[in-house]
Formats: sequence, structure tokens, C-alpha cells
Amino acid sequence: MTDDLLAWRKEFPILERTVYLISHSLGAMPARTRENLAAYAEAWDTRGIRAWEEGWWDMPVRTGDLIGGIIGAAPGEVVMQPNVSICQSIVVSCFDWNGKRNKIVTDDLNFPSNLYVYQGLERTGARLETVHSRDGITVPMEELLAAIDEETQLVSVSHVIYRSSYLQDIGAIARRAHEVGAKIVADIYHSAGTVPLDVHALALDFATGGSVKWLCGGPGAGYVYIRRSLWPELKPRVTGWVAHKSPFAFDPGAMEYAGDSFRFLNGTPAIPALYAARAGYEIISEVGVERIRAKSMRQTRRLIELAQEAGFAVRSPLCADERGGTVVIDVPRGGEITQELSRRDFLVDYRPGAGIRVAPHFYTRDEELELVIREIGRCG
Ligand SMILES: Cc1ncc(COP(=O)(O)O)c(C=O)c1O
Repeated sequence: MTDDLLAWRKEFPILERTVYLISHSLGAMPARTRENLAAYAEAWDTRGIRAWEEGWWDMPVRTGDLIGGIIGAAPGEVVMQPNVSICQSIVVSCFDWNGKRNKIVTDDLNFPSNLYVYQGLERTGARLETVHSRDGITVPMEELLAAIDEETQLVSVSHVIYRSSYLQDIGAIARRAHEVGAKIVADIYHSAGTVPLDVHALALDFATGGSVKWLCGGPGAGYVYIRRSLWPELKPRVTGWVAHKSPFAFDPGAMEYAGDSFRFLNGTPAIPALYAARAGYEIISEVGVERIRAKSMRQTRRLIELAQEAGFAVRSPLCADERGGTVVIDVPRGGEITQELSRRDFLVDYRPGAGIRVAPHFYTRDEELELVIREIGRCG
């Protein structure tokens, strides 16, 4: 079978040197990223302060639009931030937590950083209701839906669970949240770029993610989606001068938020990270997430078959429709084996209590799946 997507391998130099199965953690660097970072240095060096008005100032919004194209958002609805922890802090800072509607409903497979942000919120009056996973892989949907009530302000869930790759029905969760007048924030870090999604069709109010993984954009380029119709009512307490409607007035008086999505920014944006991230978004858009998903479902299915044939336990959903792009393989001494694999140029990672996470992406060769399973066996 010919695989057209392998033509992209030449855009990612590290694929020639390693068996690269870690795009759930750090996507491979596109060759163009080097040129983009050189363009950043060139702009700073040759244009100096003028670089701000020649593109840097608008970059958090224009770069967000590239992600918007991948997740179904309209122009302006996605803005760049350094990371998800900041994005989540911005979202929760849009609400008051000391009234009757002060509940935040989440689950214990949400990314810990998000949970830490919500725990901090408890000091300001929020009540955190955390639904517990029974198997460490899935979230009990009935229990989650039942926890969402008239006192719920925000429901926070991951689209794809980071430690098991479980793909949740966030559309159903959004419907329940809206039925009772609550809002939903979805962490889409593990779906954007590998599982097709449309934030409008799913009726999400907010979504957060980053570029390190499937988007091949590197660190420092987190993003937050905020549904446009909500903008006028939202005044994030996590804010700064860039969010002011007249930032260069440097007005020490009361904060007046910008009318557009600049209102969700805060301080000086991380410009180099935005230069670095762009190539990955362009490539993912060009390849198309539908094609990436079709290949990912085929290859993760094959990986599970190979792992089971080798006698390894699989800690991800076996049904492809319920699985994101990663397969978690639980073998004794998984942490040590992962380190040995790295020494042998097989790049995967390990999460305690879950197992070795292995992820093909659109640039993965089928043979690499066989090679990694064989190598895990050899290291064991
Ligand atoms: C689902 C999810 N959310 C958030 C993060 C990371 O958040 P941050 O960008 O704050 O480092 C990760 C990283 O592994 C993740 O898997």
C-alpha cells in the first residue's frame, strides 16, 4: 500500500535519525522552523523597535487564526498565550466564584495543571467537584453529567485524555452544561492536529491547548479559544496592558478592555515562540486533520495488535472511535525501558501508573511500529 503522507518526512529532519513515536509529547520540528526563527532574529536585528508595528503586535491574534482554521474557530476567536496553565487561569478569571453558582465540575483524568488552577480557585469561594475514573482510562460519563447542575458555573474536561488517549464525547457534555446554564472549557491539547474537531459544532464556550505535541509547533505557543458571542460579557482578572482598549495611553485609571480579542491578552507576547510555531500549523493544515486521523486510526490499531501479540498490556481504549492518537503500553520497568529506548534512538515516553506512550503521526512509517514493539521486547 502506498502512503502519500510519507512524502512529508523530508520536512522533518529528525525522522531520518530516530524512530520518532513521541508526537503526543513533542512533535518533530519542521525544517522550516529554523528559517522562521532566523526571520525573527533578522526582524529584531534589522528593524529594531519598528518590528512591533510591522507584524509583532498582531501576532498573537494572527497566529491564533492559523489554529482557528484547524479547530473550526472564526478569525479572532483564538489568541496565543505561553501555555495551557495560563489559558485556563484566564478562563476561570472571567467568572465570580463567591455566588450561588460557584461549582466547577471536572474529572481526575483532566491534566493536573488544570486541576491545580481550580484548587487555587477554591480559596476564592469555588467548589470543585471531581468525578473519579474507575479504570484510569475512561471517565464515567453518567456520573459526570449527573454532577453538572444549576449551581455549576464551569465544566472542564479534556477532549482526549493525556494518560490513556480516551476520546470523550465533549459535545454531549457541552449540551448538558448549557441545559443548566453552565459553560464548558475543553482542553483540546491531545486532539487538535490529530482528531478532527469543530469548536462551533461542539458548542464549546472555551478551549485551551498548546503547540508542543501534534501541531509540531514547539514550546511557548499555547492558545485559548473564546466563543465570540461571549466576548462582551467577559472581563478576565488575569489581564494586563496589552488587553487595554488604548494600551499606549498607559492610563493608570480603571481597566477598560479592548473590544476585540485583544481583551484576552495580558503582557508582552512571546514573539519568538510564535515564529517557531507557524510552520507546524501550516503543515498540519496542508496535510488535513481528516487524513491524519484516518492514518492514525489505522496505525494505532496495528500498534495495539502488535503489542498484544508480544504479550504486552494495552492501557488505551481498544475501540478506535474512542481513542486519540496515542497507544499506552504497560510493561514491567516501563520507565527504565523508555530510557534505554531513548539511548537506542527510539523516542517514546513513560507516565507513572499508565505506561509507555507510543504515538505514530502522519509522518510515521508502518515498519516503525514493528520496530518499536520488537525493541521494547529486547529491552525488557
Ligand atoms: C491535556 C494537556 N493539557 C495541558 C498540558 C500542558 O500544559 P502547559 O501548556 O501549561 O504546560 C498537557 C501537557 O502534557 C496536556 O497533555
